[in-house]
This record gives sequence, structure tokens and C-alpha cells, in this order.
Amino acid sequence: MQTKDAIDTLLVESRRFPPPPEVAKNANAQPGVYEEAQSDPVGWWASWARKLEWMKPFTQTLEWNEPFAKWFADGELNASVNALDRHVRAGKGTRVAYYYEGEPGDRWSITYQQLLDDVSRFANALRKLGVKKGDRVAIYMGMIPELPVAMLACARIGAAHSVIFGGFSPDSILDRVNDSQCVALVTADGAWRRGNKVPLKANCDSAISKGMPSLKHVIVAKRTDQHVHMEPGRDHWWHELVAAEPTTCEPERMNAEDLLYLLYTSGTTARPKGIKHTTGGYLTGVTATHKLVFDYKDDDVYWCAADIGWVTGHSYIVYGPLCNGATSVIYEGTPDYPDKDRLWSIVERYKVSILYTAPTAIRAFMKWGPEYVRKHDLRSLRILGSVGEPINPEAWIWYYEHIGGSRCPVVDTWWQTETGAIMITPLPGVTTLKPGSATKPFPAIFADVVNDAGESVALGGGGYCVIKQPWPSMLRGIWGDDDRYVQTYWSKFQHLYLAGDGVKRDEEGDFWFMGRIDDVMNVSGHRISTTEVESALVDHPSVAEAAVCGKLDEITGQAIVAFVSLKGGDPGTNDLAEELRDHVATKLGRFTRPKYLTFTPELPKTRSGKIMRRLLRDIAEGRMLGDTTTLADSGVVEELRSRAITEAAKED
Ligand code: WTA
Repeated sequence: MQTKDAIDTLLVESRRFPPPPEVAKNANAQPGVYEEAQSDPVGWWASWARKLEWMKPFTQTLEWNEPFAKWFADGELNASVNALDRHVRAGKGTRVAYYYEGEPGDRWSITYQQLLDDVSRFANALRKLGVKKGDRVAIYMGMIPELPVAMLACARIGAAHSVIFGGFSPDSILDRVNDSQCVALVTADGAWRRGNKVPLKANCDSAISKGMPSLKHVIVAKRTDQHVHMEPGRDHWWHELVAAEPTTCEPERMNAEDLLYLLYTSGTTARPKGIKHTTGGYLTGVTATHKLVFDYKDDDVYWCAADIGWVTGHSYIVYGPLCNGATSVIYEGTPDYPDKDRLWSIVERYKVSILYTAPTAIRAFMKWGPEYVRKHDLRSLRILGSVGEPINPEAWIWYYEHIGGSRCPVVDTWWQTETGAIMITPLPGVTTLKPGSATKPFPAIFADVVNDAGESVALGGGGYCVIKQPWPSMLRGIWGDDDRYVQTYWSKFQHLYLAGDGVKRDEEGDFWFMGRIDDVMNVSGHRISTTEVESALVDHPSVAEAAVCGKLDEITGQAIVAFVSLKGGDPGTNDLAEELRDHVATKLGRFTRPKYLTFTPELPKTRSGKIMRRLLRDIAEGRMLGDTTTLADSGVVEELRSRAITEAAKED
């Protein structure tokens, strides 16, 4: 028998939203775009690439040496010139690039001309410190304008940036800087978060003290005005460095396939992977998708409310919108500070017309209630976007009705750090929307659903999401580890890119994403590997063994559940449980703190000694247990189940 919730979900899922006629009529993407792209995909991408400004035009398009792609490989260009100079040269220097709103309420706007000046000055400063083409520069900052400035300055002088999300811990900074041997680290004294100061520079100091042989310089922007240690010779204040620098800086000529940036992401092992993105193809992908998926037009005010520390911010706060000459909003803080209507006050103030956010935020807004939304005039909105995790149909409808006033198409966009740009998505003027479905592959993207044998599954079936043809913004590999690249994405199936997501495709060919198929959890849209959290737990002196899995969560999508056995058969205490959660937060970053932690004398294992994760997931979810006959000791499970339930009850 179906529960009422399940029936409600079915009713909601079966609703259809054809494009509103006024959106359809003027949309950048018209229905013919799919056929046009399909008839000559590489040519179609090349036509987008030609909209960029090339210092040396490309004559080659795709070179596919599976699984290594090169796009537009004989062309030369500079990302910062495409983001800034060409708009200024076209007379758009006074146009606002970013409306900036700090968490404490400070606001200003930055024009394209000002952004170009700031980028040039910082680029000159980096060059003076000896940073050069081919180097890597780590950036660990909050959401302040210096963050995109630092990224674009790196791009200008041909150094690859490696942005480390400001929520990461010192250990995470250390691993990332050392993995790619960064020569400089750009940070800030602190960041504002719910009225508190996050000690960014102190976190860097603590990471550096553990040994960063490649690091020569630390550049510190002033944000929170808190006291920080400045190491003579190594540490420099941003404002002092740029003070005497001119506002012109010769951009480096970059090959289309030169590295633009690295961005580390969790995989199934404890070691994060440095995903490589290059210049020409990446800019092509983000420019095309930003223009078509969000239907971006010159009079729009666009706001991607993500953090630049994740790929969504790289592609859709920095490179995509700037390449399209867009006016965007950057907001520093959290949606509930000082109150739960902060986002809506921003939409109202800047007359935001396109808003891009995550399901986890939407579910929080739902929980807080529509009264916070109703305080503000949101009639400027015309397009809404969602990213980061599957959006449940109820949240989709709530977003559509309460934020979009039942007027704005909701584009649920599926993609990954690895794909660089949006891959499966509605186009607002073309697609009939279904709440909960990311609908169809973007033009010139060839996605499929396959079974275990790698065979395409008939419509109506489910399986693995794969991509069948290379695309311009695809990752070019993993920093320093080609084998891992091949192993992770190209070994399960021949000639197919394995995304790592489970998906169902309905009778009409629309995709419904089901979550990860590997040991990667998705908490509030952040990818976290179970192994990383397990290693952090085992690193604590009291812990003998740990197993971690995700559990469905009403707000965050998934929540982290940890099962821990202590050394010497210690039964554990609440205080120790707290300490262990904090330990994980300190080791990895606050967003990885397990929500549930259960002590157990033993973890359920097969007779060959493998931890039975599926069983732990069942226990965490409170499901009926499947087959336990392979268990070494079936008593463990009953014991665990009763404990997990007690723990969960305590948490709620
Ligand atoms: C998940 C974020 C369902 C998915 C851009 C993917 C989604 C992982 C969606 C990538 C969506 C992202 N529907 N699932 N619209 N968007 N995901 O690298 O599991 O941080 O593999 O990139 O997020 O996360 P990443």
C-alpha cells in the first residue's frame, strides 16, 4: 500500500509545466537548437568557441585520443581578457560586473573597468613576486571580491588557480597545496559567517607549519580586521602589494589546452582528486550553457548563490557570467543572517531576475515558511535554477510557487566538477518541465543510461548515467594521476564516461537523477567521501575502526552517519561522541561533521573481513535488513540497530 506521502509525490511528479509563451518567444535557445547541434556537434561547439576572443584563432576542433580530449588545440587566448578586457573595449566598462553584498551589510558595486583594473594590479603584484606561467596558486578565501580578482589575475599571467573552499580545515589546505606544489597561497585575515569571524589566515598558518615545501608567498586580503600573524618575507598584505601597481597588465598568451585551474573533489578514496580544467574548451562550455540554460540577456541581473569555492561558483559566478558580460550578485554570508529573509531582501534590492541555488537551501526555506519570502517583492525574478543534488518534487513546486510566483521556469541542472559545465538540463523556452527531473541533455551533449553490461537501457528503465562523446569543458584528467583518471571514469565501461550517478529515464526520455552509486555522500550539495570521514575518525587516538555512510535527511539531502568502535572495547560516552564529531570537523572542515555517531563494539563484517556498508546503510535508514547470512557475527547487527535507533532519537 502506498503512503500518503508517496501518493503526494506521485501527484506532484506527474505535473507538467510547458514553457510560458512570453519566455518561449524571446528565449536565447529555440526548439531547433537540438537538431542544429545534433547534426554537427563539434561544429556547433566551435561556433560557440568563436564567440570568444582569440589571440590566435584555432583551426583544429576536437582531437580525441580516448579518454584524453583536446579542443581548439592550436588556438591561443586568455581567460581574463575574455572575462574583462573585451567588454571594456566594447564600451561596457561602466557596466556593473558584480553587486557585492557583505554579510555585515556593507555593499558596493564593481564595474567591468574596475574589475579589470583590480585584476591587472594584482596580476602585476603576483608577477613581481615571481609567480609565472605554468605555476599553481592556491586561493583560500571567503566570498569577497578579492576571490574572483585573484582567480582572474592568475588566469591573466598563466598561473593555474586552485581554490580551496573557505570551510575546509588546515589539513585539507595542506594536502591540496602540496599535491599540486602551489608556489603562493592567497587568503584573507578572516571571513564573516553568521556574525563570527572564521580564522582563515590562522588556518593557513597551521597548515603551513606542517610543511609546504613549494610555498614561497602568502598574500592576505583584509576583511575582518582581526589580528593575524605575518611572517616577514613570506606573508604580504594584499593592499600593500597592489598599492603602487599600474592598472594595466599584459595578459599571457595561453594555449587553449593550457591549464586554467585545478579544483579538488572527493572520490571514493581518502585522497581528493585535483580535477584539471583547461582554457578554450572550458570557457566555451560555460559561456554557452550560461547563455542558453539561464536564458541570460543584457538587462538581466543574475545571481548564483553558491560559493566560489565549489565548481558552481567557478563556472557560474566567475567565468560563465563574466564571459557573457553579465551583471551578477555576490553575497558573502549565509541565508539566515541576520534573519531568514536575507536572500529575498537581496533579490528585491538588486531586482535579481535569474536565481540559481541548491535544493538543500530550498528545503531550508520551506521549513522556515513562506512568510519570510512574502516580506519582499520578488517580481523581478524570471528564471530559477537548481543544482548540486536531486531536487525532490515537493521542493521544486515550493520553489516554483513561492519564489517564482508560479511564473518562472525552474531549470534543474545536472553536472559535476568533472564536467565543468551544465550537462543535463531544461532550456527555459523549449522544455516542458517536470518537477524532480533534470529533463534532457544539453545540445551537443550525448548522455545515456546503461546497465551493468554498459548497454543502453530502454526508455522507462534505470541504470548508470554515462556520457558517450567528449565535450569541450570536460576534465582533462586528475593532477599528477592519469591512471586514476582512467580508472575512475573510463574503466567500468568501454568508451563511456562514468559519471557516478544512478539515473532513471522515463518514457519520454527525461532523466531523473537518483544519487551517487559510489561511496560519495552528498550533504547540502557538498561531495564528501565516506573514506575521508572514516580516515579522519580513525586518526583519533581512541578509535579502533570506523565506518561511515549517508542517511536521507529532510534538509541536507543526506546526513553523515558514523559507526565507531573504540580501542580496548571502550563503550564510549556522549562527550567522546561530541569530541569525535569535532575531530572530523577539525580534520576535514566543518561541513563534514557527522550528524549521527554510534559506538559499537564491532562493525558488521563479512567472513572475509569486509565491512558491510550496505547493511550499515540499511541500519542508518531504519530499513528492514537484507541478507545477513554472510555476516561473521549476526549478533552485531541487532545490537547496532537498537543503538542506531536510540542515537537517532536523541539527535531529533
Ligand atoms: C550531484 C556540482 C541530481 C550528482 C555541480 C553529481 C545532482 C554531483 C545535480 C556533482 C542535479 C549535481 N540533480 N544530482 N541537478 N547536480 N548533482 O562535483 O551526484 O560538487 O555527481 O558538482 O552532485 O557534485 P559537484
